[in-house]
Amino acid sequence: MKPTCSFPDGFLWGTATAAHQVEGNNVNSDFWVLEHIPGTIVAEPSGDACDHFHRYREDIKLLADLGFSTYRFSIEWARVEPEQGLFSAATIAHYRDMLQACEEHELMPMVTLHHFTSPRWLMRLGGWTAKETPELFARYVSYVMEQLGEQIPYVCTLNEVNLPDLLAHIMASRAQAENLAPVGIKEDNDLSWLQKAALAFGLDKDAVIHPFPYTYVERGNFVEVALEAHRQARAAIRRISPDTKVGFSLALHEIDILPGGEAKAEETWQTLFKQYLPTLKDDDFFALQNYTREVIGPDGPVFPEGAERTQMGYEYRPEALAGVVLQVAKDLKIPIIITENGVATPDDQRRVEFIERALKGLHACIQDGIDIQGYYYWSAFDNYEWVMGYRMTFGLIAVDRTTQKRTIKESAHYLGKIAQANGL
Ligand code: BGC
Repeated sequence: MKPTCSFPDGFLWGTATAAHQVEGNNVNSDFWVLEHIPGTIVAEPSGDACDHFHRYREDIKLLADLGFSTYRFSIEWARVEPEQGLFSAATIAHYRDMLQACEEHELMPMVTLHHFTSPRWLMRLGGWTAKETPELFARYVSYVMEQLGEQIPYVCTLNEVNLPDLLAHIMASRAQAENLAPVGIKEDNDLSWLQKAALAFGLDKDAVIHPFPYTYVERGNFVEVALEAHRQARAAIRRISPDTKVGFSLALHEIDILPGGEAKAEETWQTLFKQYLPTLKDDDFFALQNYTREVIGPDGPVFPEGAERTQMGYEYRPEALAGVVLQVAKDLKIPIIITENGVATPDDQRRVEFIERALKGLHACIQDGIDIQGYYYWSAFDNYEWVMGYRMTFGLIAVDRTTQKRTIKESAHYLGKIAQANGL
């Protein structure tokens, strides 16, 4: 039977992961260092994660069998270049086989070249505020593309460069709802683990470290450095692998404005989105990632009273996806791919409903003429949710952390069937 909401031919249906969150034992990365500092705010170490580094072949087959046509995963810089200037051919062979497995199973790979983690050596230079970082990143990207470019049709360079700013908003709205003290780096407690981290990175203990999602010393302008890294990487990709489509990902909430909140809302949209436009408009696609909405009043973000919360503490709001697509499409005319959308919930029926409502909204946006070319659910697996550890369950597939056994949830079958039918 023909679906009521049919998507355009060739629409990409997939799921997404990130290396550090699923591979396991990413020991040369900056985040691994932070996980193991005494007093760290990270809930638990990533350890073996989902052991995707070894189980990728069975995982890729599983995703293909479920009906997906594409898989977004990341290549880990800390593995490709474990020491500055030392590139690992064995790591490249690993990712080549992953790409090969995707091809064998007809899963089009979408590769993220940097998903929050960097090699720990980058922090000796200052991490994502160091002036050398864009060039070093572009050198790593060039190496990957020279070796693997022919097998990579789509790349996202950097993941959610705006997340540090977005997190500040999320925290402000949660603090307001829960009457918490404003969040920031507080008290000697936090300072002392960060000082220990500075020493572990080979820095002076007084170097002020920004730990997550991009790790850097607080001294330069992070956004400028990251945008320059994206531009240099994009130029390298276009030179080395001209057929690969390049995108940049941002995490964006739909913005709803309460009376009197107009100025704050405009300021928020400028910080989270508009400041990136001059660079983004020259990309091949925009990688849009959305989880919820943000309601903004005269004093900033407000959590809607009585609204249902996800495990992350976000408002359960699948309609936010369509809402933010409409907001983005006003200013940006390149194709949009939804490279992340999902919900952390222990109740898989809530996930099924989330997907259904999000996709209905997306379908309406396409009907309105917006060029949306794909949808990736975050995430394929219950995985390592950074500072929050393994407590958040975003996955379509559960993973037993002792046995590594995968258990397919109803939501995986649900979305897989939509992918097969190209609609719902
Ligand atoms: C990130 C993922 C993260 C997800 C859920 C996104 O911001 O790209 O790494 O796990 O959100 O919080």
